[in-house]
Amino acid sequence: MKIITSAKELQKEVLKYREEKKSIGFVPTMGYLHEGHMSLVHHARKENDLVIMSVFVNPLQFGPNEDFDSYPRDFERDERLAKNNGVDIIFYPQVEEMYKDTFSFHVKVLNKVNVLCGQKREGHFDGVATVLIKLFNITQPNRAYFGMKDAQQVAIIESIIEDFNFPITLVPVDIVREEDGLAKSSRNVYLSDQERNEAPQLYEALKRAKSLVEQGEYDVRTLQLAVSEHISKHTSGEIDYVEILNYPELEPIQVLSGKTIIAVAVKFTKARLIDNITFDIKHINN
Ligand code: PAF
Repeated sequence: MKIITSAKELQKEVLKYREEKKSIGFVPTMGYLHEGHMSLVHHARKENDLVIMSVFVNPLQFGPNEDFDSYPRDFERDERLAKNNGVDIIFYPQVEEMYKDTFSFHVKVLNKVNVLCGQKREGHFDGVATVLIKLFNITQPNRAYFGMKDAQQVAIIESIIEDFNFPITLVPVDIVREEDGLAKSSRNVYLSDQERNEAPQLYEALKRAKSLVEQGEYDVRTLQLAVSEHISKHTSGEIDYVEILNYPELEPIQVLSGKTIIAVAVKFTKARLIDNITFDIKHINN
């Protein structure tokens, strides 16, 4: 496994593979790898000749009061995990390599941002879009792999690929959960013992909503209330949002129809957790 820190050097390397007609799978991460990331790597490994992973904590996607400085980092561990799981190249740039002092552009995401995490984290998806446009140009993958835990991110990346004509297939990968249902996340390490015990209730609440849908409840307000009540009753966290939207358009709806996302964000003392389920109403009960 190679570790490359320079964008130019990686572009040269990638060119070699493309000339040999080898397919490239790309797994962008901010490091502190967990099984969720490994699941992306396993998919990429199966479907491509070469697997490139980036490890870059992107300052542009953190707000001024967010956890950029304290975001968990452990590159040696990441390197070991990546190597053991079949990554061929890690791209590990410094901030100065990605954003020169002369960086002249500001990417602004116009659609799908005024809901879910977008409305709570102003500028977050502008930062995600900026770094991904750069990373796509540096790694030139055939396929790029993203976890559905960040379902809004996946929906926005679909637009980036479409709007900027990247010849890349987006591969969304299912959420990986702990045995008790908590979605794997680098931020789970911030939870206290008690909060860690409560955290699986986010998924329980989502499953409860899905079972109500299966019983014929399609009213969004009723489903939202059921999710909120479950979370308030079973956790000490503060609900940031419970939203039900169509997917991947992320438009508000009143009554379920077609592909749907139910998404939650809950603030615990030091961690804000997100989780979601997506389903197609046409396939419910089928
Ligand atoms: O999902 C993430 O870890 C990040 O948002 C990403 C896609 C690596 C961009 O920095």
